[in-house]
Amino acid sequence: MHKVVTNFSKTVIVPECGIKLKNEPEPVVRKKYEKEIDRVLITKGCIEARIVALAKEIDAAFKNVNELVCFVILKGGMFFAADLIRTLDELSDIRTKIDFIRCSSYGDRSTSSGKVDLYTIDKFEGENVLLIEDIVDTGKTLSTLQGLLAKNVKNFKTCVLLDKGIARDVKVDFIGFRIPKIFVGGYGLDYAGYYRGLPEIVVIKKEILKK
Ligand code: PRP
Repeated sequence: MHKVVTNFSKTVIVPECGIKLKNEPEPVVRKKYEKEIDRVLITKGCIEARIVALAKEIDAAFKNVNELVCFVILKGGMFFAADLIRTLDELSDIRTKIDFIRCSSYGDRSTSSGKVDLYTIDKFEGENVLLIEDIVDTGKTLSTLQGLLAKNVKNFKTCVLLDKGIARDVKVDFIGFRIPKIFVGGYGLDYAGYYRGLPEIVVIKKEILKK
């Protein structure tokens, strides 16, 4: 039974059973993924509601800022960033620009390799920068990028959709949801390349995860 959530104004703590909106039906796993996915953890409606609140938080935190470079970590951050940036542009007076980097620390595994491969990076001297990421797990990806990007920028902040509460030494300014320490997919997040296109966050079955 999913917990009903009605307040999205601050980071939502997600229980093991998962969450849903008041009027959403009990979420079900799509038939084609039934063997691999255990349950829906965060529904599409909950993600949308929290993104509106995050965009308002970001707008307030960057007050007096005219332009913001939204720096997106691919591939996982793609849907979250797309929805967040569109919401920001709808709700806020801030003009947005978008840039991307592709990072990889997981490969096809379910645990971080401990090594973050960077593909390309631009410099943003004198700009206001919002780093957007889908999930913080060990925090290696974020701390690597924060170290590279935050130099010489005017104002630097980080926004993540999901936080497992493992990375203690990495600073995150905006957090969508705090989730249990379980392997999740969907809404941009993958396991072995799959599940990124799902509109909700799902829990992958333990038996299919390679260590
Ligand atoms: C995942 C996720 C984050 C990172 C978080 O990316 O999208 O970028 O790991 O883990 P960390 O906090 O332990 O560094 P992955 O390496 O799987 O690449 P992807 O985004 O292309 O899926």
